[in-house]
Amino acid sequence: MDTLNGKRGTVHVCKDAAELGLQCARSFVDSVTETVGKTGQCTVALSGGHTPHLMYEHLLSSDFGKRAPWDKVHFFIGDERCVAVDSPENNFNNARDQFLNRLNIPASHLHPTYNQDKDPAASALSYEKTVKQFFGLKDGEFPRFDLIHLGMGPDGHCASLFPESKALTEGKRIVTENFVEKLSSWRITLTFPTINHASNVMFMVQGEDKSEVLAEVLESDVVSYPAQHIVLEQGKLQWFIDRAAARDMCSAPSNR
Ligand code: 6PG
Repeated sequence: MDTLNGKRGTVHVCKDAAELGLQCARSFVDSVTETVGKTGQCTVALSGGHTPHLMYEHLLSSDFGKRAPWDKVHFFIGDERCVAVDSPENNFNNARDQFLNRLNIPASHLHPTYNQDKDPAASALSYEKTVKQFFGLKDGEFPRFDLIHLGMGPDGHCASLFPESKALTEGKRIVTENFVEKLSSWRITLTFPTINHASNVMFMVQGEDKSEVLAEVLESDVVSYPAQHIVLEQGKLQWFIDRAAARDMCSAPSNR
């Protein structure tokens, strides 16, 4: 794995998807273990999409993963599709199937959204209340998640902060509903202020289909994509990518 200090955080370039999954898992466990060691617990917002599955098997079956203090972790979701809880499109449900259900941790440590398929606005308000209560926040305060895991779409979106969508300009809400025109669907998402208030944000980006936009996101001074708005106030931002996703980056060692 090559590591470089980019303009948008530390970038780890893995040789392929397999190494990407392993290295992400290592970093994920390091972050959880360090946080639990310091505070006795860890708050994590998981990513949706397909890429996280590359990491989950390592979290569950590696020696380092088996040693992690999972029973001290509270799991939230960074964004949710407004579909039924048992839909194959439901992000938290996929995280349960691929990872959470195999950890044997208390149900009270799992924090999914509710009724997102029935009423996105009410579901977003309810999730925001859940987060505010869990973190003990006053109005106007933002939660400081210990770790937020994010993917990036080929259009440079992260969580459900899609280009040209209303949520991009949300500066007060912790969580908001967001209608995504091109998908003709509603989403629930953490907002930029919430993500940028986190202690650690870990992007995981795999595949050639993202390489052109990823090069722009990581190397251009021009801010054109939602993922470029992830600028932590006081936290560690890391990008874990594979060589396929790094293909168009000038700074990637494998391209020099
Ligand atoms: C979602 C996600 C989204 C995802 C990216 C990358 O609900 O789709 O949260 O932000 O992380 O679209 O998705 P893939 O990992 O499937 O490429």
